[in-house]
Amino acid sequence: MKIIDGKAHRYVKFLVYGCQMNVADAERMAGQLAAIGYERTEDTDIADLLIINTCAVRETAEDKVYGKIGEIKKLKRENPQLIFGITGCMAQKESDKLIKRAPHIDFVLGTGQVHELTKVVQEIQQERGHVVNTALDAKVAPAIAEGSPIAREGSLSAWVPIMYGCNNFCTYCIVPYVRGRERSRRPEDVVKEVEQAVAQGYKEVTLLGQNVNSYGKDHKLATFAELLKMVDKVEGIKRVRFMTSHPKDLSDEVIDAIAEGEHLCEHIHLPVQYGSNHLLKAMNRVYTVESYRELVKKIRAKLPHASLTTDLIVGFPGETEDDFAQMLDFLKEIRYDSAYTFIYSKRSGTPAAEMENQVDDAVKKERLNALMAVQNQISLEINQSLQDKVMEVMVEGPSKNDDSVWTGHTCTNKIVLFNHQDEQPGDFIQVKITHPQTWVLKGIRV
Ligand code: SAH
Ligand code: SF4
Ligand code: F3S
Repeated sequence: MKIIDGKAHRYVKFLVYGCQMNVADAERMAGQLAAIGYERTEDTDIADLLIINTCAVRETAEDKVYGKIGEIKKLKRENPQLIFGITGCMAQKESDKLIKRAPHIDFVLGTGQVHELTKVVQEIQQERGHVVNTALDAKVAPAIAEGSPIAREGSLSAWVPIMYGCNNFCTYCIVPYVRGRERSRRPEDVVKEVEQAVAQGYKEVTLLGQNVNSYGKDHKLATFAELLKMVDKVEGIKRVRFMTSHPKDLSDEVIDAIAEGEHLCEHIHLPVQYGSNHLLKAMNRVYTVESYRELVKKIRAKLPHASLTTDLIVGFPGETEDDFAQMLDFLKEIRYDSAYTFIYSKRSGTPAAEMENQVDDAVKKERLNALMAVQNQISLEINQSLQDKVMEVMVEGPSKNDDSVWTGHTCTNKIVLFNHQDEQPGDFIQVKITHPQTWVLKGIRV
């Protein structure tokens, strides 16, 4: 707490791990906390409330959180008034086990209880007891709490969740267990949130969901394609992005909507996860190499300039040399603009954790390196094909290492670096690509 001009100020610091959904959730938590007087800070030393919004998707994500929990013990000793809470997917997964292991945690709030946050914090302010609330009925979709205030982090790009949870149960994945069943927000609530973001000066929105293609299958008020069209029409919006698309149900209507849309970005994140039917089946991904290939053909026929990105997992149980060779061939055939590559991580409670033929760690690492080498070469070649092309860039601000070099993204989600003159964040400029590289495109303003 700080006293400024005779008034007490309370601060909350968030540590956010995991995916954009967690970033969006933290913005909603910060919005609620503002209503009871907490300002968001990046400075741990002045925080009265510290929240780790956790991820459980891989063991490494959990290890990082355990490390942080350990560090915070010292902070709590120095400042016993500090309230320390764990939220997010690991809170959901581990529940009261977290407090048993680390009693300096004051509260653990599950993914379905985000709206309870202010109540819990006020309870602890008064009584200083432990609170654990991670109730989540695996069979029932919890209600969506609408109307909660949002304290967004950036100033140009807004995250807008359109649905929560996942029904797909890919055999490696913990998400359906910690996020519950799919539920879609009402289209009017999504549109209203986008309108509000635009009114606050945001230029770009990213619609979020574990599988946006199944948006609306629960309430039947609008399909994802229909929602895209509604958001595209919001007055003043410049760019609309979305993730993630599950390949099993990306519809023709969605592809057409992007082709016809005015502000819908031509970038599709379409995680394939693997490139052999044997493993796709074991992963319960429901599509085949052949059907995925057809889908990509369709996308490229209608959206020839679209960028295509993916997620890949190596070392899934039962992966053979032959599977891996097929995977590399598939990458070379599809030619993604870029890929997030992961080593399979055993998640207890998921079917894959019980499978035989778990792959040796050394083999997993070797395959990851081989995979990344192939993908990096492809990313470089695709970027090199953009040499001398003029691309529209939304200006974001100075790059990390050099204030005179500014950065922005193309609509296809490529990072562009250029020498700063008088551009301001939020400007849309034309940049000619002069030095394409694997991860970034360097260019000059024209
Ligand atoms: N709903 C999204 C992804 C959510 S998790 C989708 O279906 O595409 C993000 C990525 O983490 C996944 O695409 C997958 O590649 C990876 N992932 C999930 N569980 C994993 C595990 N147990 N080990 C390694 N990677 C995993
Ligand atoms: Fe996990 Fe599969 Fe759901 Fe994505 S679609 S969140 S990978 S279960
Ligand atoms: Fe992690 Fe939960 Fe997202 S497990 S990837 S933070 S949905």
